[in-house]
Amino acid sequence: MRDFTFYAPTRILFGRGKIAELPVHISKCANKILLAYGGGSVKRTGVYDTLAALLENAGIEWVELSGIQPNPKIDSVREGVELCKKHDLKAVLALGGGSVIDCCKAIAAGVYHKGDLWDMVDKNAIKRALPVFTVLTMAATGSEMNGNAVISNMEINEKKAIKSELLKPVASVLDPTYTFTVPRFQTAAGVADIMSHILECYFSTVHCAAVQDGISEALLKVCIEYGKAAVVTPTDYTARANLMWASSLAINGLTSCGTGNAWSCHAIEHQLSAYYDITHGAGLAVVTPAWFDHILSKNTLDKFVSYGKNVWGIKGNHPFAIAKEAIAKTREFFASLGLPETLRGLGIHSSEYFHDMAQKAVKDDLANAYVPLTEEDVVAIYSACL
Ligand code: NZQ
Ligand code: ZN
Repeated sequence: MRDFTFYAPTRILFGRGKIAELPVHISKCANKILLAYGGGSVKRTGVYDTLAALLENAGIEWVELSGIQPNPKIDSVREGVELCKKHDLKAVLALGGGSVIDCCKAIAAGVYHKGDLWDMVDKNAIKRALPVFTVLTMAATGSEMNGNAVISNMEINEKKAIKSELLKPVASVLDPTYTFTVPRFQTAAGVADIMSHILECYFSTVHCAAVQDGISEALLKVCIEYGKAAVVTPTDYTARANLMWASSLAINGLTSCGTGNAWSCHAIEHQLSAYYDITHGAGLAVVTPAWFDHILSKNTLDKFVSYGKNVWGIKGNHPFAIAKEAIAKTREFFASLGLPETLRGLGIHSSEYFHDMAQKAVKDDLANAYVPLTEEDVVAIYSACL
């Protein structure tokens, strides 16, 4: 295991009705805030009304930014920064899924950025940030408990991550009942995203990280059991609660500390989103099994065998057979959730941008991935996905 620092400062308010405790934490640092949300699901489900009443009772004023899109765009960040500056807002409250939260994090940092905001994202130039609070409505990205945000600039087909401890939310409300209304496809995509966050760390060049491996395997089994249950019964509280907590733990540094490599599937998928604006988790469901096929060799075999035996319960004595069955089971599981198995299933019918996307993907440090990947490797993975 490598040396590491683990820092997870976010206060998690988990469970039914825990939103009632949020205003007291906001009040400690602000009495006038930006409240941001997406395309309207929070109004339809009623969580917006609940939150608005609580803020009002606590004497917290707010200015709203609505219409943040999935794969949040730099334009929403610009809009939010302007509002914060114009109204002298002192904190940012995200009400929604990962896209809303990520946009809010970029806004929180953007308020202090001198110069162009895309430049800030492109260079990860985070010097200071307003405090960020979140009310999570969908289990997937783990943004509610980490310091990352992913922002898109569709004009130049770029999707980039910013990362800073300053962006870790001060407090996040995780009420599983808010996820009852997440549509089947988004629930399934969220499950694939959570699993990918775990797998990107589990397949590591660092051996003997028994704690991280054990936590990862347990979280993966949670995703498999409760991911299916949530897709079948959207109002299953136990399923939603387990998925929600798994989403936070999968990518708050717990499974990657002391083991992390550059993330292959995310680098490859982010380019698909940047060019085709697809749903992140659905893209990962296509890319991950193809990446597995590409990297399976005698050097990686041991890890695949652990994955097959400990996560999927595969028995047998032939390592390659176990590894191949583990890959097949991963593929079948995503398909059983109703996720597409190919790029065509995501509406991508041509290899037109494979080279451009591969060129950009490898810049995410793929030379230092679990299995180092070149542009040719990435093109081969895209081609296998088609
Ligand atoms: O916009 P609204 O109307 O709210 O609808 C959303 C959106 O259409 C809907 N939704 C969310 N909660 C709902 C709901 N519909 C009904 N009921 C609810 N309770 O779901 C749709 C998708 O929402 P979105 O926020 O885009 O999903 P997700 O949480 O998967 O976020 C995806 C974004 O996060 C980035 C992805 O790249 C993508 O841009 N990621 C962020 C990470 C991070 N910050 O650490 C890591 C991830 O790997 C990922 O890259
Ligand atoms: Zn992800």
